[in-house]
Amino acid sequence: MVANESYQASNSEIDSVRNRQTSCKSSVQSDSLPSIPCTNEIALKRHLNLWSGICFIVGITIGSGIFVSPKGVLKYTESVGLCLIIWVVSGFVALLGALCFAEIGGIIPRSGAELAYMKEGIGSIHERTGDILAYLFNWTNTFILKPTSTAVLVMSFAEYFLSGIMDACGPPETLVKITSVFTILMLMNINSISVSAANRLNIIFVICKVVTILTVIIVGIVRIAQGHTKYLQNGFDGTTTKPLSVALAFYAGLWAYDGWNSLNSVTEELKNPKRNLWLSIVLALPSVIILYLLTNISYFTVMNKALLLSSNTVAVTWGELVLGRIGANILPILISISALGSANGTLFVSARYCMVGARYGYLPEIFSYIQKDTLTPLPSIVLQGILSIIFCIPSNIDELIDVFSFSAWIFYGLTFVATLCCKFTMKKAKRVISVPIPLIVIVILISIYLVIAPVIVNPSIGFLLATFLILFGMVFYYPFVYYQVELDCMKKLTKFFEVFFDLKISAINLD
Ligand code: ARG
Repeated sequence: MVANESYQASNSEIDSVRNRQTSCKSSVQSDSLPSIPCTNEIALKRHLNLWSGICFIVGITIGSGIFVSPKGVLKYTESVGLCLIIWVVSGFVALLGALCFAEIGGIIPRSGAELAYMKEGIGSIHERTGDILAYLFNWTNTFILKPTSTAVLVMSFAEYFLSGIMDACGPPETLVKITSVFTILMLMNINSISVSAANRLNIIFVICKVVTILTVIIVGIVRIAQGHTKYLQNGFDGTTTKPLSVALAFYAGLWAYDGWNSLNSVTEELKNPKRNLWLSIVLALPSVIILYLLTNISYFTVMNKALLLSSNTVAVTWGELVLGRIGANILPILISISALGSANGTLFVSARYCMVGARYGYLPEIFSYIQKDTLTPLPSIVLQGILSIIFCIPSNIDELIDVFSFSAWIFYGLTFVATLCCKFTMKKAKRVISVPIPLIVIVILISIYLVIAPVIVNPSIGFLLATFLILFGMVFYYPFVYYQVELDCMKKLTKFFEVFFDLKISAINLD
């Protein structure tokens, strides 16, 4: 399976952990002692099967995007026809991206996904570059990507939930922010108490959101059968002539599909990851593409372009027109549940990323610890929760989505580059799935377009701040990662938290 030296080297790292764990197990058995761990390490359990893998992807991917993004897509495409095409193409870009992730995830089956792929994939060409990119990914993911997406989802939850239970004027901004903060605290609590509670909650959320979408789709089909197709005819009238502004339409569409890579980051908690990772992707994403396309068609059986563009909450306006008062009250609540489920999954994933980053030495050691009784990465959950709260307070949803998409596509692009590197440096690695090289090159070019075009069309301060924040990470790289300077106060703090919260170092899951 292994074809090159640097990959061997990192495997030997894993081997040393494996030896430690095996010798630990046998000593416990031979002495027939109760299961007292003989090292200070403890591993996460493999609790996700194929079904929960699919639910995991669908649960994070379907959030609030499909209910609000249609306006953004239509605004920049200016025609129903191109709008529907963007929804399908965005889905295929996400699927292609996910297949690249499935390929590299099969060769490097480790939690931490992009981090491991860059370190070992790009590192197989040039070790230091791989390490720096892996570090920068971890930095950006910890301090921008995950907290911004949790913040957007939680704020969408608060906005929809409150507008469902309040009068027509909508909730005041302060109330939305306060509700968001409480929601994050609640999610932190659930995620730190139990992995299976968070997981079960996720399955309930998925069922709820799929039922909501299916309702919209079924009504759409009925309306088409009744002949309400006038807004779908002459679909390409008015199509935009600006190819760069289409990138912003993609941002809106791709936000709705984001989450396609989420299962890669919890590979260590997936049963039989070699089979279940790619199979979950291949089953989940095409289903989401079909659901999204039919949902959009359903919107256009009820609303024309002008009406859709004048509504901030497309699905709610649709509900009012089709289902009257009941729709206007129930739909916001259902949409809020969908966003909440996605936020719950995002927090779950973000804590795992953080934990793995700390294991690699890219974050302080304390974040690699898990709580001994609940087996959850408590310090990482707390860090991610606090950062999400910080992002919620000053920002608005649209700005956060732009900053998120810009930063995310830089690192998605680099991960596709890593997949390409592995084609040459790990030729002999056994691949369960193999994406042809031209397709990988295409998805790399798409990533470059998605990073550059929005900056040209809409040069906002958010992109500048995001670039600054990403590069700022390098300030810490040389002292703490390269030279591995250890601060005395950090050691004391780690010891304090370890004892106070009854934490253990997380081991790599090798079974
Ligand atoms: N696709 C989701 C939505 O439509 C957003 C997912 C954000 N990304 C993430 N990795 N959690 O609301």
